[in-house]
Amino acid sequence: MFGLFAKGVATATRPIGAERSAECAILHSSSFAYPWKEADFEQLLAAPETSARGAIETKESNLAGFILSRCAIDEAEILTIAVAPAWRRNGIGRSLLAAHLADLAAMGIKRVFLEVDVANVSARTLYVSFGFRQVGERKSYYRVADAAPATALVMRLDIN
Ligand SMILES: CC(C)(COP(=O)(O)OP(=O)(O)OC[C@H]1O[C@@H](n2cnc3c(N)ncnc32)[C@H](O)[C@@H]1OP(=O)(O)O)[C@@H](O)C(=O)NCCC(=O)NCCS
Repeated sequence: MFGLFAKGVATATRPIGAERSAECAILHSSSFAYPWKEADFEQLLAAPETSARGAIETKESNLAGFILSRCAIDEAEILTIAVAPAWRRNGIGRSLLAAHLADLAAMGIKRVFLEVDVANVSARTLYVSFGFRQVGERKSYYRVADAAPATALVMRLDIN
């Protein structure tokens, strides 16, 4: 799947595996206050229950963003989605999520869940635009040094 985003650079989304672990870890650390290690991504991306897709900048083959879910029978949980700061607001997050949901639907997944920081307006707006609805709340879920614990919203989308 190819797209020409606002920057005028072609970006393709495609399934990714453990070969992208180092890039995922760097991108994740630029996006979250609680970064995951390269070894965490190696393990996750190699696992058979994981479905992952990356947005690849076609000229340099750099990873501009990625999304990763863990699947169990007919349910999936989106564990993380991140777009590199320099690439945000170019439609990459939307493209990744759309293609990923199509991947999950093709695998027979019926329900998709995720958790999002209540203060994360960008991500919440993106999810709601795809039809995700809040089904729960986890208070004091995200704990980061020097900050008050943050509430996570649990969201669900039915597909298939
Ligand atoms: C959330 C994230 C993945 C969105 O990626 P993106 O490539 O910038 O998103 P897109 O350009 O495809 O935008 C898709 C929609 O998301 C929403 N959105 C994205 N950024 C937004 C912002 N800063 N404010 C409000 N809405 C925003 C909008 O609804 C947007 O649609 P629109 O452009 O038609 O208005 C990106 O901001 C990111 O990586 N954030 C840090 C990591 C993170 O918080 N991940 C989610 C964890 S639950």
